[in-house]
Amino acid sequence: MLKKTLEDLHFYGRRRSRRMHNHRQTQFDAVAERFFIPAPTENDTSIDPRSFFTTEQKLDDVWLEIGFGHGEHIINQAQLNPQIGLVGIEPFINGIASAAIAIQEKSIENIRIYPDDAMQMINRFPAASFSRIFLFFPDPWPKVRHHKRRFIQTETVAMLARLLPEGGTLHLATDIPDLADWMIMHVLENPQFTWTAERQSDWTTPPQNWVTTKYQHKAIREGRSSVYLDFVKTSAADAKDITV
Ligand SMILES: C[S@@+](CC[C@H](N)C(=O)[O-])C[C@H]1O[C@@H](n2cnc3c(N)ncnc32)[C@H](O)[C@@H]1O
Repeated sequence: MLKKTLEDLHFYGRRRSRRMHNHRQTQFDAVAERFFIPAPTENDTSIDPRSFFTTEQKLDDVWLEIGFGHGEHIINQAQLNPQIGLVGIEPFINGIASAAIAIQEKSIENIRIYPDDAMQMINRFPAASFSRIFLFFPDPWPKVRHHKRRFIQTETVAMLARLLPEGGTLHLATDIPDLADWMIMHVLENPQFTWTAERQSDWTTPPQNWVTTKYQHKAIREGRSSVYLDFVKTSAADAKDITV
């Protein structure tokens, strides 16, 4: 069901880099069967992320990570917060495979994965579905003519605002100065978001329990430092359900 939709989407990044070895494929398949979220149909206009988990899990809250790469952060959060359900969205198959293997090896139960483009899902979740949203090191698309491909846009900021309750947090990080400016500008032009004072005064110290991902290690090797941007939703204006 998922594979059908993989090729015909308006997604600009890499989906697959190399073939998986048999053992990796087996681990991937085991996690896929248990923890992958199926592709929505046209009729799936409202999908409660809590429905991805079992009622026995008695979750306090659900958090969302968009573009989790190889899964280092979502896995760390899942281990630190067993009472939280974590929904991860990532279309890059080899990244998903790394995450799937770690999920299996660490016997993690509180992650669910949508293995495709976040844009297919985020308008389908009801308003205020997630108390935290993470978007770390989104693709920078450095050429001006490609800026429209950046994940953070006026429209996507509004979509993410809708997904948060009042007091919910949007956590961003980047190693690209121009993208940091872009993110701050686009998020703060939405009156529902406030840049936390703590983060404004110190945006170079990673948050507590931070894990350095494969991507960030590369940035460090190449001499780029990172900034961490947290925005709290302070107003519930416009946070109503929208039609997909
Ligand atoms: C530069 S990587 C960073 C990965 C990870 N967040 C980290 O910090 O290591 C950006 C990731 O965003 C994913 N991505 C890009 N567009 C996306 C979209 N529309 N929906 C979900 N993920 C997306 C890419 O596949 C890629 O894995």
